[in-house]
Amino acid sequence: MEFETMKDPRNLGDTPAEEFRKQLHELADWVADFRENIESLRVAPNEKPGAVRAQLPAQPPEDGEPFEKILSDVDRLIVPGMVHWSHPMFLGYFGWTTTAPGILGEIITAPLNVNAMTWRTCPAATELETVVIDWLRQWLGLPGEFGGVVYDTASVGIMHALAVAREQAGPSTRKLGLTNRDLPRFRIYTSDQAHSAAEKAAITLGIGEENVVRVSSDDEFRMNVALLRETIAQDRQQGFQPMAVVTTVGTTSTSSVDAIPEIATICREEKMWLHIDGAYGGAFAMLPEYKWVSKGWEMADSIVINPHKTLFVPLDFSVLYVRDLERLRRVFTLVPEVLRGDTIEGEKNYMDYGIQLGRRFRALKAWVIWRSLGRAGIVSRLREQIRLANLLADWITTDNRFELAAPVSMGVVCFRFVGVVAGVGDAGPGSATPATEESIDNLNSELVEQINASGRAYLTQTKLRGRTVMRIGLGNVLTTEEHLRKAWELIRETADALSPT
Ligand SMILES: Cc1ncc(COP(=O)(O)O)c(C=O)c1O
Repeated sequence: MEFETMKDPRNLGDTPAEEFRKQLHELADWVADFRENIESLRVAPNEKPGAVRAQLPAQPPEDGEPFEKILSDVDRLIVPGMVHWSHPMFLGYFGWTTTAPGILGEIITAPLNVNAMTWRTCPAATELETVVIDWLRQWLGLPGEFGGVVYDTASVGIMHALAVAREQAGPSTRKLGLTNRDLPRFRIYTSDQAHSAAEKAAITLGIGEENVVRVSSDDEFRMNVALLRETIAQDRQQGFQPMAVVTTVGTTSTSSVDAIPEIATICREEKMWLHIDGAYGGAFAMLPEYKWVSKGWEMADSIVINPHKTLFVPLDFSVLYVRDLERLRRVFTLVPEVLRGDTIEGEKNYMDYGIQLGRRFRALKAWVIWRSLGRAGIVSRLREQIRLANLLADWITTDNRFELAAPVSMGVVCFRFVGVVAGVGDAGPGSATPATEESIDNLNSELVEQINASGRAYLTQTKLRGRTVMRIGLGNVLTTEEHLRKAWELIRETADALSPT
């Protein structure tokens, strides 16, 4: 029996083929139009929390609705309520990784919709995952003894890496847990610039947030290695067991790079796990002129890279590499009876390498985008981000009302508006009080807020050495020099309006 539409009450199955084909064509146009016209949208909404929810029915639908109506509601209710990360004037965080081939990769993945938990449940998903992980390893110049696994995010990757570190520091923790055993308190060291994912991992693993020790960074926002050494020695004296150091290649605020070789030497001497968080910056090792960021990687125990931040793979796609991947498998392998038959044969069952059982076929979208761009296409796009970041830095340094707040690294620029005239001080406009650092902090914060509220561009703010600074991240392939120039003009105009000379 053939049904013409989804609305036919006798149809208990899927959308009829012809109707589906029509919808797909309509959707293809919608996707192409969205991408082509993205610049006409506001970058971000300027509504109060709850504005989107207020327009949506609180009750779930009783009867099915036509796709056309749902799609028109996407245009009417969802698109205006979004921050458009793919907009060329979105300059927040690390820029963004949307590309047309990446979108195609996501679209191909949707109808396949498999569970990549074991080799048998989908050989192609498992084997392609192994292949793309190894392509990336080769691009990064990582030795062959590193094997990897794809997770959703770097935070999850770091948690898994530190679980292996914990097992190494306290054997049988997997089996017996941490309590009621004669174990010392484990310590994890990371810099004051590192991502909070280390604390999240410590919370999850029962190590405790307070056992993540933040080591101060130097003038260039890199972990102070002498201080790390001292802190470890003091901790040992007090009976703690130093377990791991989490270093960063490309810190979240300034993209600074820790001195991996020196820290690796300490880790070897102290028998500690060395993790490298290269979530953002690790991928720059693909550029010969940035090869220095990967110095010492061969001494690491684990490295996390987020292709969804830097290598044009749509969110989410993060790779954890572990030297001797078997160490990770031993901590997490556990085969439920129902899957025993599925695991008899197989090259690799990725469910053994983490807490997740069900896993998306993430490798496909990486394969599509990496084949579409090739190494050369990726490298030239990364170089363009670096060129734009340095160009912006030049503009900043030639305007004496602004100053760079950190060395420019990769695609990230941190800067501060400092050209505050006397009279706009703590007591507000017209007061004779000279501006304080706090009032300059407030101005910088207000600048970012106003620009984001304008819908014309989107920046982020961060704190460096306790001071508020503005931050721009480049990475979006749609962001050209012209967009950056427009953003810089907007920043200057907004600064003028906030602090007139
Ligand atoms: C250096 C660094 N590490 C880790 C993370 C966490 O990444 P994810 O969102 O993939 O967990 C971030 C996020 O910005 C980051 O900048």
